[in-house]
Amino acid sequence: MASSEALMVVFWLIGSSFFLLGTSIRLADDQDHRNEEDLVSAACNRTFYIDICVSSIRSDPRSSTISDLKGLADVALNVTFVHGMETLDYIKHLISNSPAASYRSGCLRDCAEVYADAVQSLQDTVHLLRIRDFEKVNTLVSAAMTDSDTCEDGFNEVLDDAEGVSPLTQRNQYFSKLCSNFLAITKLLF
Ligand SMILES: *[C@@H]1O[C@H](CO)[C@@H](O)[C@H](O)[C@H]1NC(C)=O
Ligand SMILES: *[C@@H]1O[C@H](CO)[C@@H](O)[C@H](O)[C@H]1NC(C)=O
Repeated sequence: MASSEALMVVFWLIGSSFFLLGTSIRLADDQDHRNEEDLVSAACNRTFYIDICVSSIRSDPRSSTISDLKGLADVALNVTFVHGMETLDYIKHLISNSPAASYRSGCLRDCAEVYADAVQSLQDTVHLLRIRDFEKVNTLVSAAMTDSDTCEDGFNEVLDDAEGVSPLTQRNQYFSKLCSNFLAITKLLF
């Protein structure tokens, strides 16, 4: 009987150590998650558009694996790039649905051109960030921001033209804010 009691104690010990192991793994997960949340809130708190910063970064599945500022900057860059690519696709879609000779179509073609430049700049920034050439990062991403302004201004130049209303205002503003947030996060890396 003594040996089966000893066996039960052993089973109990094994069982509870698994239980404890499970608990500590869960605690570690919670800890990681909290650290990542703290990092995102603290860094986004230093940007101009805090809510957009937090929501755009959280919308990326990679945000759950962010462990440092560099990782956060990578995700902030990528969400900006993805938004630029989506805007470029949207512009192409609008062009295909606009009369070729219209004022609107001309503006859209200019927008397609500047957004193509902007996404290229953001793509080049991946490497610049890796080699910590922050000056060039700043130049390229500021240029990308200007590109979205240029697109917007194209529509607003002829104010009395009924066609002059930009169909891209929201996208242009959001893109510009994402660029601004990314630059603010990059500054924290200096
Ligand atoms: C954001 O910054 C302000 C002042 O700079 C500070 O009072 C606040 O606690 C910060 N919030 C977070 C979430 O870090
Ligand atoms: C963004 O992420 C996608 C998917 O991982 C990748 O294909 C793309 O090269 C990234 N681009 C930039 C500029 O970070």
